[in-house]
Amino acid sequence: MLKLLILSVLGLEISALVCDPGWVQSFDRCDPGLAFLVGGSHFALDKRLGFSNTSEIFALSKTLADYPRLIDAPIMTWKDDHVLVCGGRNQGEDDPVLNECWDYWPCSNEWKVSSTPPLLTTRVGASFVTVSIQGKRYLWVLGGSESDESQSLVTTELLDFSTNQWLPGPNLAYGRFSSCALDLGEGSVMMVGGFPTYTNTEMIHLEDGSYLSQNESLNEFRWGHGCANLPDGRQLALGGLDENFLSKLSTEIYDGTKWLMGPSLPSSRSGMTVLNLDGRPTLFGGVQLSVIWHTEVLALDLDQGEWVELPEKLLEAHTSGAGTLVPNSIFDSCP
Ligand SMILES: *[C@@H]1O[C@H](CO)[C@@H](O)[C@H](O)[C@H]1NC(C)=O
Ligand SMILES: *[C@@H]1O[C@H](CO)[C@@H](O)[C@H](O)[C@H]1NC(C)=O
Repeated sequence: MLKLLILSVLGLEISALVCDPGWVQSFDRCDPGLAFLVGGSHFALDKRLGFSNTSEIFALSKTLADYPRLIDAPIMTWKDDHVLVCGGRNQGEDDPVLNECWDYWPCSNEWKVSSTPPLLTTRVGASFVTVSIQGKRYLWVLGGSESDESQSLVTTELLDFSTNQWLPGPNLAYGRFSSCALDLGEGSVMMVGGFPTYTNTEMIHLEDGSYLSQNESLNEFRWGHGCANLPDGRQLALGGLDENFLSKLSTEIYDGTKWLMGPSLPSSRSGMTVLNLDGRPTLFGGVQLSVIWHTEVLALDLDQGEWVELPEKLLEAHTSGAGTLVPNSIFDSCP
């Protein structure tokens, strides 16, 4: 009796944990994050030219098992003791869009069919973000496209970490493909741009999905862009494509009322993964005008207001794949 009570009290404390930006939750603790990247396409504008099945952890010299598919634009997260990847477009005869999920297990360095059920909807180019509300954690998957022919999706779905089941989430106001989702805390997510809304941003609340608000528009058209929360609470949108498929140099920062132009990238790019590494928005790879496939990693130095290239490069160019933070202790408990 006493034991159960203590456990349930502990359970409450455990589930109420929220990690600082750049840190990753594993069960009841937070660890500094490392960037884990999967898949992507070699030609952002012509999927025929090849998808990738590689997995890598940035700046960690360890060879990771290949993802079981050549995959473009899946969704992913760290889930306490393994990486979860679902959906995306698989390169093949007809490049099917998938709903299946796979788990990466660090100690055996293998991808296994996931214990998480498939997504409710096949999705490629969906946005995804981990949110905590009332002590419960969810992976929120928003928009994307169901197939090559279909329009951008307005639907969303949620993986409840405690039950490991997908639930339908509230609909977006607009369909969005290759958009960007930012966690604003307490179950609020800001959706920034995407195809075909381009400059539109909206806030969506998990608690009351019927409440949707349209917020200040971006100054420039963006899809295939990246976004990040800044340490001071502002939001950043960077690079991407415009309506003519041209990649962009510019960035924008939302100060709570308006999007203002931010520090430009050293070269234009789209399809990069953006993660908060060591407390700084950091971009991985991307492609410039379907010609230059980047292996560069750039971090935003907020004091200097400029992008700084990190000394390490990616093992493989990475464009329109997916990425998530994993704890830096990922291999520590392996025998
Ligand atoms: C990954 O792709 C390469 C090149 O296409 C292929 O040789 C390899 O077998 C693939 N790995 C898996 C696990 O499918
Ligand atoms: C978005 O707009 C709504 C009202 O339309 C406002 O209540 C909300 O605070 C805004 N959110 C942000 C992040 O600006």
